[in-house]
Amino acid sequence: MRKTSDIIWQDAQHQVLFKILDLIKEPGANNQVLFRLRDYTENHFALEEQYMVELDFPDREAHIRAHDLFREEIEQLLVKGEDPDDIFRKIISTFLTEWLTRHVFGIDKELEAFILQSSRK
Ligand SMILES: [Fe+2]
Ligand SMILES: [Fe+2]
Repeated sequence: MRKTSDIIWQDAQHQVLFKILDLIKEPGANNQVLFRLRDYTENHFALEEQYMVELDFPDREAHIRAHDLFREEIEQLLVKGEDPDDIFRKIISTFLTEWLTRHVFGIDKELEAFILQSSRK
């Protein structure tokens, strides 16, 4: 299992997100998995954003904007999509996985460090 974070909730939720993105490219998968991705993503982003607000995280505006872009990508897929075909789902999965990897190992790491530092005060 890929280790992404030292905060247990954040790490565990990222693992689930990557797992759902893997499921999207399974042959014959349907739109249900996209709805699952949307719901799980929303819960995860909301929790990170709650920490950002409560701890007054300085970069929160940029981070929330990044979350909003991902939210929009998923919404667009759901608007477009009567069960997208296997090739299209593979493309979606690759694109979103790359995006999420950059996010999780980039600005989510900065947030993680800030949360850990704040909780030690
Ligand atoms: Fe995250
Ligand atoms: Fe994030």
